[in-house]
This record gives sequence, C-alpha cells and structure tokens, in this order.
Amino acid sequence: MKLRDLSEDELKARQSELKAVYDQFKESRLSLDLTRGKPSTEQLDLSNDLDGILEGFFLLQDGTDVRNYGGILGIPEARQLGADILSLQPSQVLVGGNSSLTLMYNLIAHMIPEWQGEKQASNSKVKFICPVPGYDRHFTICESFDIEMINVNFLPSGPDMETIEELVARDPMIKGIWCVPKYSNPSSHSYDEDTVKRFAKLGNLAGADFRIMWDNAYVAHHLTDKPVRLPDLMALAQEAGTEDSVVMFASTSKVTFAGAGISFLGTSEKNLKAFEKFLVPQVISFDKVNQLRHVRFLKDLDTLAAHMNKHRALLEPKFEMVQKKLQAAVGDKDIAEWTRPDGGYFISLNTLPGIASVVVELAASAGVKLTPAGATFPYGLDPENRNIRVAPTFPSLEDLEKALDVFVVCLELASLNRLLAQ
Ligand SMILES: Cc1ncc(COP(=O)(O)O)c(C=O)c1O
Repeated sequence: MKLRDLSEDELKARQSELKAVYDQFKESRLSLDLTRGKPSTEQLDLSNDLDGILEGFFLLQDGTDVRNYGGILGIPEARQLGADILSLQPSQVLVGGNSSLTLMYNLIAHMIPEWQGEKQASNSKVKFICPVPGYDRHFTICESFDIEMINVNFLPSGPDMETIEELVARDPMIKGIWCVPKYSNPSSHSYDEDTVKRFAKLGNLAGADFRIMWDNAYVAHHLTDKPVRLPDLMALAQEAGTEDSVVMFASTSKVTFAGAGISFLGTSEKNLKAFEKFLVPQVISFDKVNQLRHVRFLKDLDTLAAHMNKHRALLEPKFEMVQKKLQAAVGDKDIAEWTRPDGGYFISLNTLPGIASVVVELAASAGVKLTPAGATFPYGLDPENRNIRVAPTFPSLEDLEKALDVFVVCLELASLNRLLAQ
C-alpha cells in the first residue's frame, strides 16, 4: 500500500515498528559496504590465467621485444583488440596502462592550451555538459581543471539531446560532454539510435575543439541474453564530418584485473597524432608485457564475450537480490523508484525528494556504507537530494542481503519521517 495513503496514526505506528527494527540493526554492529563499484574476488579470479600466460615468450610476430621501451601507441595486437571493442580501425586506437581515467585526464590536459585563447578572450570558463546522474570521477577531472559543469537530465532514450544541442549552439565555451553510452554509471541508460546519430552531428553545432568524451567503460558488461548494440558513433561522425569531436575510451578494469588491466583511447588519426605528441614527454611506452598478456588471454570479441558471460553468472544473482529486496520491502509503497539494469555495475535509486542524504546517514549509523548522496552529480550537489547509487558487485551475496535488509528499513524510515513532517 502507498505510504501516503496511510492515516497519520497508521504512519506513526509503522514508524515506531521500523524504529525498533532499525535500533536492533544498530546494536548488531554491522560493517557492510555498498559503495564500491569494483569486481569481487571471484570475478578477479576469472582472469588468474593472465599470470604466467606468456611462459617466457616476449616477442611479437614482427620481432618486437615487449619487455623493452618503445611503441607508445601500444602493440599492434592490442590496438586491434581495442579497435574491435570500440568499432574503430587499429590506426585510431592507443592502448594505455591500467586506467582509462588517466587517458581521459590526459586528453583534457592536452586540450586545455587549445581552449586557453578563447577562454581569455571571452573571460569565461571552459564548460562541459554532464548528463546526470553520472560518474563522480568524470566530475572530479573537470573540477581539477576548473572546468564549469552543466547538468543535463536523462530521458529514457539517453541524455536530453534537445537541451544539449541548444546549449552547445548557444555557448561556444562549452568544449565537451561526458558520456557513458552503454549501461551508464549509475543510471544504466544505453543511448538509443537517434541519440547516437544526434551526437554524431553535435560537432557541427560546436567548434572544432569540442570533444565528446565517449567513455564506453561497460561496453561488454551485459546482464541479459540480449546485449545492447550501440550504433557506430565514429562511422556516423565520419559521415557528418565530425570525427575529430569523438574520443572513445574503454578498459579491461572490469574484464580482467581492475588494478592491472589495459586501457584504450580511440579517436581520429589526426587527433591521435596530436595526443601522442602530448604524451611523449611523460612516457616512453606503456606496459606492453601486460598488453601482450591481455591479447593472449582475451584473444578476440568471441573469447571476450565468453569471458564476460562468466562475470554475468557471478553478477546476476547479486543484481536479482537487490531487485527482490527492494520490490518486497518498498515495491508498493510509492517512496522510491530504481533501475533494472541490463548491464553495467550499478542500480540507481531515487528516494522521495530531499531525503537521499538522510537515508545514507541512517544506513551509515547502522553500519552500512553507501556512496555519499550527491556523489553522482557535479560538485556533489544533487539538486533534489534524491539519488543513491547502489553498487552490488563487490560484497558476497550473504553480505549484500544483510546490507539490503538495513537499507530498505532506512529508506522507509526516512520516507515516513518525511511524510509525517509534511
Ligand atoms: C564510467 C566509468 N569510467 C571509467 C571507470 C574507471 O575506469 P579505469 O579503471 O579504466 O580507469 C569507471 C569505474 O568505475 C567507470 O564507471
């Protein structure tokens, strides 16, 4: 039954009932964590064969010794793998170290001088559009470069393209946009065909120095039998003459080892040349031994897909557990809405307006850590204080169940307090 249909006395009775349950949780001194969007140990174990896979053979087919310096763009075999993953040509791909975030940071660092002149002339900050809710570390990169962030909401089809097009056409200091086009962090959106087509044309509304930061972190991370297939942004951009506006990223952080994978950056050959020039003073080459290990292990798209199915088998019960618990506890109470992801790492939940931070605080006091409310918005400011990111991948199924039992009580208790205060 909807909570708002209860009388004040009924609400109060339910409040004291739940308060007693909550106090019991507090006394049991739990220590559970739903903050971490990282793979579990069992998931990491799926890639243990990486260790020792080279068996002492360090030479590429062309005779290159991967143990030595050189080849800043990556070994050809890994560039091919990255190209297959991102639907690009190998000549458009750089293979980096273990973090695609480093590549994103560096891509922006290398654009800063290009944006400088216009910034000074207009006496305005460089600005980026941030579809919200989004990935906090994208926002941290912007903050570190003093880039002003503009929130744009999602529609079911993806980010609100009409607003984005208007903004970009109106303000030349908007120099970029963050996108997680497939199984978005945290909202689970996958952009539809029309959205991707409109992204391909965005560069024509903006200037030549506008960049779409297409972070395809969850490109292979399906949770269903019907993987989403994104339209090919680079091909569409080439048709529209905007290929320099597209910069794609991916990594194997949630495929093999989160702390020891390889990363990919894909863009036009012209952009890649300029980016390579920027990297030369800081690195002679990335870890080619690890690139070779990954090529031997992941081989091709079919082998990658089979490997990701093993991840899915471990992840699906956890995502199902969250759905089951939420549905059973608050499904009919009309106090929250949440996503049912087809892939990716997160469930995004919206509380009644104004209480996400209260839910997070209540859960923390009862020993369940959640991502801080607001973290999914630029500057940590959720204008409606509603969004909570639930990360079910890392805890064991047993811990996840316990954490959710606490979470749903905190969610309902905060909602009851709110309704009674109205
Ligand atoms: C959208 C998104 N991009 C990038 C990353 C981090 O990627 P990497 O480990 O390659 O730096 C994450 C990790 O959670 C993510 O969710």
